[in-house]
Amino acid sequence: MTFILYFYFSRALETALRLSIYLILSCFVLLEKYRLVSNGCKLVGCGSAVPSLSISNYDLGKIVDTSDEWISARTGIRNRRVLSGNESLRSLAVEAAKKALEMADVDADDLDLILMCTSTPDNLFGDAPQVQRDLGCTKTPIACDIRAACSGFMLGLFSAACYVRGGGLHKILVIGADAVSRFIDWTDRGTCVLFGDAAGAVVVQACNAEEDGLLSFDLHSDGEGGRHLGSTIKYSQTNDLSGSNGSVFELPSRKSSYPFVQMNGQEVFRFAARCVPQSIETALKKASLTASGIDWLLLHQANQRIIDAVATRLEFPPEKVISNLENYGNTSAASIPLALDEAVRSGKVKQGHTIAAAGFGAGLTWASAVIRWG
Ligand code: ACO
Repeated sequence: MTFILYFYFSRALETALRLSIYLILSCFVLLEKYRLVSNGCKLVGCGSAVPSLSISNYDLGKIVDTSDEWISARTGIRNRRVLSGNESLRSLAVEAAKKALEMADVDADDLDLILMCTSTPDNLFGDAPQVQRDLGCTKTPIACDIRAACSGFMLGLFSAACYVRGGGLHKILVIGADAVSRFIDWTDRGTCVLFGDAAGAVVVQACNAEEDGLLSFDLHSDGEGGRHLGSTIKYSQTNDLSGSNGSVFELPSRKSSYPFVQMNGQEVFRFAARCVPQSIETALKKASLTASGIDWLLLHQANQRIIDAVATRLEFPPEKVISNLENYGNTSAASIPLALDEAVRSGKVKQGHTIAAAGFGAGLTWASAVIRWG
């Protein structure tokens, strides 16, 4: 009898022990999984694309009363690329995305999400689903647009980080692409010399906390200041209709269009020089870093004088400042990923390098991030 009791007791003890070990191991697996899903995300690939048509300052001098001397001294810009022929914003976005996916060694079908940051899409209702189709993604569940002008790409990065950390997504394609040339009055020397078209893309991937590459963000918008820069819809014809009971409806306007970009250059300049350094300082503080510990400053490429003013204020030496606007002008949401891609492919930005980045522009919006590449 004692033997039987002992036998059953020891079997019960053994089962309880096995169960406990199993439960403890399961907890470890779950904790590790939770940590992977929620804590880290890093940039693992980048790519860019620009239109074939190049327009120099000398070319613009033949259209408007300007000169290479004036444009390069006031802005740092010498050339810009502009969509022409059969080129579309979507084709640029797809080309940039393919290069980013190739560098990241990620299959388009493995993407969980595509974010297309643009304020000048081919389709008013968004380009991302067509980009998804053109990339041949058959499994990617969702693709959508983000509209925040020159801060769009930074908003895209922030959104990707949130989707990875809180949403459990693993691979996200973030594209910054704009064709501001579509909304530029090519007879207005005050604006036409500034902008160009382009696309840039990065692949954001989930990782563990130690490898985290999106270290901090600081985001802002100010609708009050929006009057200094924008293109607000205009209605050119309304269509009144008398109802059968004599009432008059005002039907939606038949003709509406977005006018050329209107800009108060000096106000935008002052806003950028004031707000961008503050925002970067906040992002650095959140990442527990200082400017001296950062490898690169990468700002939205709007004007070399703005870039220089921000760098001086933050005490970044010129050799740590990434700039390529001389060749492309202000490409809005594309400017940061375009400059990043060139800096990575030329070997300037290396694996593990830290970057303080900031976008700013229409809205007004401005957004900073501290990033570790790779
Ligand atoms: N060529 C020659 N002369 C010009 C040109 C030109 N392309 N453009 C303006 N001028 C003239 C003006 O008519 C003016 O002449 P006036 O004194 O006889 O009246 C003179 O140059 C000075 O004009 P300002 O507008 O005061 O020139 P400023 O030094 O402010 O430079 C600029 C203008 C380059 C636009 C500058 O204000 C700037 O870069 N601002 C920031 C713009 C920006 O960053 N936008 C980014 C946001 S983009 C986005 O979010 C979509």
